[in-house]
Amino acid sequence: MKILLLGSGGREHALAWKIMQSPRVETLFVAPGNAGTQAGGAVNVAIKADDFEGIKHFVLDHDIDMVVVGPEDPLVKGVYDCFRDDEALSKIPVIGPSKAGAVLEGSKDFAKQFMLRHKIPTASYQTFDGNHLAEGLTFLEGLKPPYVLKADGLCAGKGVLILPTLDEAKCELREMLGGMFGLASARVVIEEFLSGIECSVFVLTDGVHYKILPEAKDYKRIGEGDTGLNTGGMGAVSPVPFADEVWMRKVEDRIIRPTVEGLAAEGIDYKGFIFFGLINCDGEPKVIEYNCRMGDPETETVMLRLESDIVDLFEGVATGTLDQRQLTLDPRKAVCVMLVSGGYPEAYKKGYPIDFSDVQRGADTVVFHAGTALNADGQVCTAGGRVIAVSSYGSTQAEAMARSFAVAEQIKFEGKYFRHDIGADL
Ligand code: AMP
Ligand code: GLY
Repeated sequence: MKILLLGSGGREHALAWKIMQSPRVETLFVAPGNAGTQAGGAVNVAIKADDFEGIKHFVLDHDIDMVVVGPEDPLVKGVYDCFRDDEALSKIPVIGPSKAGAVLEGSKDFAKQFMLRHKIPTASYQTFDGNHLAEGLTFLEGLKPPYVLKADGLCAGKGVLILPTLDEAKCELREMLGGMFGLASARVVIEEFLSGIECSVFVLTDGVHYKILPEAKDYKRIGEGDTGLNTGGMGAVSPVPFADEVWMRKVEDRIIRPTVEGLAAEGIDYKGFIFFGLINCDGEPKVIEYNCRMGDPETETVMLRLESDIVDLFEGVATGTLDQRQLTLDPRKAVCVMLVSGGYPEAYKKGYPIDFSDVQRGADTVVFHAGTALNADGQVCTAGGRVIAVSSYGSTQAEAMARSFAVAEQIKFEGKYFRHDIGADL
């Protein structure tokens, strides 16, 4: 099989690593990929993940058998629909939901209404637009601090504000509805603050059947002890100790099944990953958000723990036979530590050479590239905020942590930073 994977981050390198292990794969192309996907044996192609015309021509010219979508952007823009509705492309399966399904991530208001319709546990909320600012301010007055404001649309992970005082919340609501995030904040969801530990649960679905992948915990803040600014994610661990059998049964019964059945009942075409951003409120799981793709850096642990052939699962998705496929897990633990550019998540410089010469890693550690590129001299350089994801197996979480931290120390580039406490709270 020839597969085309869209995207260029650590998540895509981890997906590529797993796809490349399948005996069914003849060639894996990645558009646009990074220095790590290429070094791992895939073929990078210089097409952006949302350049649908470019993707179409490439797929037809190279007889691609399947397209796997990494990031949300092409999904929210309708890459699935673009294939489905084109006579020349309609037989080529796309692993990722239709535009109607990707709205679960693309509109927070839609996601909240969907959960309400299907009685899926989540924080109580109301949505306001610019014509209803006064009502929004009054609604805030009836809530207890802290206040949670969410831009309705996609904001590259920056659209959620958690504010300690009523004055700040009112001020930010005015700013958001006044265009702080452009059209994405033309509507703002105001919701009840939930306290608890977060957990990311992933499902692969063919629209009827689903398989639950390993869960993971992400570390979002830049600073140790969960302090400082939010990032795309500084590390992840899988499994998550509190996600035991009892908790996961609640998640499946109250959240996963009603979501998959709800999508089908509403006639929404959904063949791909669903990412449930959950919070554990005194043992009760609630949904913080949906994403229409895998998480990053969660994928850099989940792929380690998935033992089955992922391409077999993708074929199950494509043909509606996921129930006939096997999902088996590696019993070991996995921990990912993200190395980031100095200054990230604020301004940072790119183009620093990365020195791997001191790396002494065993077969238990995988070095995934996130923001890397080759410079004119063929040297691997930093090319993003999140640069390298070091993922390790361990028979215990502590062992996996120790292996990832050791290699995180050994990889060198100007301004390198990582959190030394990934997994320490669990
Ligand atoms: P999101 O972009 O929706 O993932 O939100 C970013 C982060 O904000 C989440 O990972 C949570 O840590 C936090 N968050 C979002 N909604 C709530 C809520 N209702 N209560 C508490 N924390 C929240
Ligand atoms: N790690 C969180 C996300 O991928 O959205």
